[in-house]
Amino acid sequence: PHILVLHGPNLNLLGSREPDHYGRATLAEIEAGLQTRAQGWGWRLRSLQSNAEHILIDTVQEAARQGVTYIIINPAAFTHTSVALRDALAAVQIPFIEVHLSNIHAREPFRQHSYFSDLAQGVVAGLGADGYFLALDAIHRRLKRNNS
Ligand code: DQA
Repeated sequence: PHILVLHGPNLNLLGSREPDHYGRATLAEIEAGLQTRAQGWGWRLRSLQSNAEHILIDTVQEAARQGVTYIIINPAAFTHTSVALRDALAAVQIPFIEVHLSNIHAREPFRQHSYFSDLAQGVVAGLGADGYFLALDAIHRRLKRNNS
């Protein structure tokens, strides 16, 4: 299996950015933890953060050519704005799990709509950095079940 983890705008600031909403873990710490877990299973995992919508879209398109098995994505603010990134995920048809550190349903009304959730296999929100690990574990369980 080959997993792609995508992080949208401002998530490069994790650790210092509004820690009450987003916690104290840095993106580097989260990525290292995911990498360790995936490697333990002999899986390939690549992470990319971008503040630019077109880079995220290009990366999703490339993922199809590279045979990525699953995507874990925190689209960050693009969650609430990006039809284009949604369309990219719909186009490649790679199954994905949507992750949010904060509970977007308990925040401002504009955060409560996601352009991704109806296409996602599942959504994790409000559990902080654990959400990424829960998503990765869910993928592991699903792939194991399908192969047995
Ligand atoms: C976020 C929630 C979004 O509303 C926000 O714009 C983010 C991060 C989260 O992980 O909680 O940047 O996706």
